[in-house]
Formats: sequence, C-alpha cells, structure tokens
Amino acid sequence: MAVERRTFLKRARNVSLGVAVGGCLPWVSGCAGVPYADFRRSGNVLRVPRAAFATSPGVLLNFPDEGMPIYVHRHGEGRYSAVLTRCTHQGCQVDPDQDRIRCPCHGSEYSLDGRVLQGPAERSLTRYAISVEGDEILVEVG
Ligand code: FES
Repeated sequence: MAVERRTFLKRARNVSLGVAVGGCLPWVSGCAGVPYADFRRSGNVLRVPRAAFATSPGVLLNFPDEGMPIYVHRHGEGRYSAVLTRCTHQGCQVDPDQDRIRCPCHGSEYSLDGRVLQGPAERSLTRYAISVEGDEILVEVG
C-alpha cells in the first residue's frame, strides 16, 4: 500500500524530532543497541535476572515512574551500577555506549556509572542503590 507524500513527510519529521530531542528511539530498540531486560517489581525494588547480562554488559529497564529508562551496567563479577538515562544538563535521554554514556543534545559525557566526564552537565546522573541477591540484581528506586 502506497503512503501518501504528506503522511511520509510527517513520519519522517517525527522520527527526526525523536532523534533530535531524545537522542535515540528507545521504542524501536534500546539506545545504541542496548537491549531492554525484563524485571519484576516488588515495592521499591526492581529485580533483574542476572541472566539478562549474559549477552550484553548493560541493559535498559523500562521505568515509567521517571519517564526514562534506567541503565544497569555490569562492571565485573558482582559489580553493577544503575543510573537514570536523563541528562542532568537539560533533561535529554542519554545513550549508553561501550565505554561511556553520551548525551546527544549538547555533548555531555558520563562514565558508565554516571559520573560526569565532560560538560556542560555538572552533576552526575541519578544513581540507584544496587545489590546482588542470588540470581537477581536488585535496583532500589524508592
Ligand atoms: S541535555 Fe545533555 S548535554 Fe544538554
């Protein structure tokens, strides 16, 4: 079925705005190819299976409470960090990459555990307490 020119242009504009404002299209796939992981919520704790890190050192958690995903990174055996993917400069969604987290809006860069490496952002990403319990990673969001 052919798409009308007007419809095509409207969709193209929306995709461009999505990339410009949000930096990535998380509903298409995770930012920079980072996969989303399933988790189970119990109160203020998000329980992520350790198996989620079998094929990727980092996963995104869909967390509607904050309006942006949480990025959980495995730094090594038993060492994890969890940060909100909202840039502390002006609120764009940041993109986890192989060695850092980048903001597509004005170029801020963060370490994989959320510390500022390069401005204009001056504050770390929001970090969550994280622990390991058996086969699960526990992210405290309360
Ligand atoms: S919103 Fe991220 S650097 Fe400006």
